[in-house]
Amino acid sequence: MKTMQIRILNGRTIAAREGESVYKTLKDNGVYLVASCGGKGVCGKCRVKILEGAGRIESSGKLRKRDIEENFVLACRTFPEADLLIEIPEESKLVIGDKIAAGKSRNLLEYLHSVEPLLSPMVRHVSLSLDPPTLENPVSDLERLKRALADRGLEGMRFSHGFLVPLARALREAGWKVSLSFAEDMQAVSLSPADKGTRYGIAVDIGTTTVVVYFIDCTDGSLVDVGVTYNSQMRYGDDVITRIVHATEGGGLQELRNAVVEDINDIIKPIMEKNNIIRDDIHSVVISGNTTMAHLFWGLDPATIREEPYIPTLNAFPRWKAGVAKLKVNHLAPVYTLPCVGSYVGGDIVSGVLASRLHKNAEIALFMDIGTNGEIAVGNNEWLITAACSMGPCFEGSGIRHGMRATDGAIESVRLDPRSFEPTLGVIGDSAPSGICGSGMIDAISELFFAGVIDQKGKFSRDLTTDRLKMGEEGPEYILHRGDLRDIVLTEADIENVIRAKAALYAGVSVLLKEVGLSLDIVERIYIAGGFGNYLNIDKAIMIGMLPDLPKEKFSFIGNTSIAGAYLCLLSEKMRKEAEEIAHKMTYVELSVLRGFMDEYMSALFLPHTDIGLFPSVKDLYHKDR
Ligand code: FES
Repeated sequence: MKTMQIRILNGRTIAAREGESVYKTLKDNGVYLVASCGGKGVCGKCRVKILEGAGRIESSGKLRKRDIEENFVLACRTFPEADLLIEIPEESKLVIGDKIAAGKSRNLLEYLHSVEPLLSPMVRHVSLSLDPPTLENPVSDLERLKRALADRGLEGMRFSHGFLVPLARALREAGWKVSLSFAEDMQAVSLSPADKGTRYGIAVDIGTTTVVVYFIDCTDGSLVDVGVTYNSQMRYGDDVITRIVHATEGGGLQELRNAVVEDINDIIKPIMEKNNIIRDDIHSVVISGNTTMAHLFWGLDPATIREEPYIPTLNAFPRWKAGVAKLKVNHLAPVYTLPCVGSYVGGDIVSGVLASRLHKNAEIALFMDIGTNGEIAVGNNEWLITAACSMGPCFEGSGIRHGMRATDGAIESVRLDPRSFEPTLGVIGDSAPSGICGSGMIDAISELFFAGVIDQKGKFSRDLTTDRLKMGEEGPEYILHRGDLRDIVLTEADIENVIRAKAALYAGVSVLLKEVGLSLDIVERIYIAGGFGNYLNIDKAIMIGMLPDLPKEKFSFIGNTSIAGAYLCLLSEKMRKEAEEIAHKMTYVELSVLRGFMDEYMSALFLPHTDIGLFPSVKDLYHKDR
């Protein structure tokens, strides 16, 4: 086999193998490119520039003519045939492993106390004082421990091999005065000196894009630290479907599982070091994620999730042991996974309903988690119905020419002067813009629509005279930012993608409400969750017809409810029971088989909707502006 090298400009030199794409070679050597389609040659995000050498180019997919002329190739469709020198442009570099600024939206402990004053973590503790062995009292260490437990009314404790191995030394080092930690199923977890008071737990939200860990002191429920990173599974694709496909390819499932487990371990390691905490003192773990993420974490083949009739292997997960899950905490720590409802409504939504308390109130409320999928739940303390609609990853930057996630350099807000059509941009991190994120797109489309730059179908007006509009290779485009190296534009295809996504969400809400015979005005509260929800401008989202036109005071942003639900479950048995009840009680509706969904969807493919009467506030504003 021919061996070659790939040299990265200002970077490493990597050995390449014949027949392996540039993308795979880089990935296998820890150099990650944005690969929204998972290396299938369709997203056009893995562009690299060949400066020297030659390769076999299988396809150029979405690359523009100018890119090709400048020697850009798709790394996933290019196979080295000689040594290569390549340049990786900034926008093709996948930022993973980097810590993301972590925020906690509210005081969760206060919130927990308001719904459940008593802490009841998954692991409890009992202090024991054992009589040291003597020649006259020669019973074994384990028997001695069992007798001490029986004296405290604790019978039937189970002891694993992993617990027994260090038992003799632990008892002696502690001078026979110990604290035994045990799980709800009476499984002994750890033995420590009686005076050791603090125990920890971690609540984990495995999102398709990010992994969030709350490091909790379980003795008082306080938050020790928060860690966030991008989900490293993004190396294999942006959305759940691409990852499911990857999981079915040789070794892919294990790669995906290892990626997310490493993310969790990488987050907790520096937190432990900083706070002087040893891994044996982390006694419990709660995992919340969508059904695919939960399956991947468990190492379960998710293939059937995407095949009709869309059945997951399981919705209710047994308790797992951290050691078996390969989490670097106490290896006997129980791992609780939030139950899922169906293939596309997972534990993250159960967490969301739990945290919003929708299931406890008499008022009818709507819960929406907006991300790659739009997950919707409607109901109150008597009934709950849920569905998911595929919005595509456009709000996370995929499928958008200059789309990116909401990180530094992303345009997150846009204002347009209605006379000059000149934009004012808000950029995350106040840096030079390098792309546009979901909230920026919503702002931009709403502003372009109201300024008359685009029509109801999202098409650019052909009679405006502004140099902000130009004809690109794929049709007209609006220049948001003029850069030295490249302009950042919004194309008609980008706008069409956003309109499709918002139409799917709106149609999902409409059809779900119709399914239970309710109209929108019955809904008294709307909870919006998801990382995206933190930045969403509600007025603008209504103006483009993404959210229903209801009074603004009915909307509540509740941020990342997946992690909030995981936190509640980590500390409260009552919350864990409620989570099980929610999952059990929720009726899951498969929107694609519902009559009327397609009609609703087609009607929503306009700004804001074909029936503008459904958006009275937008109608008023629209006519006032004309
Ligand atoms: S085109 Fe190469 S990863 Fe999508």
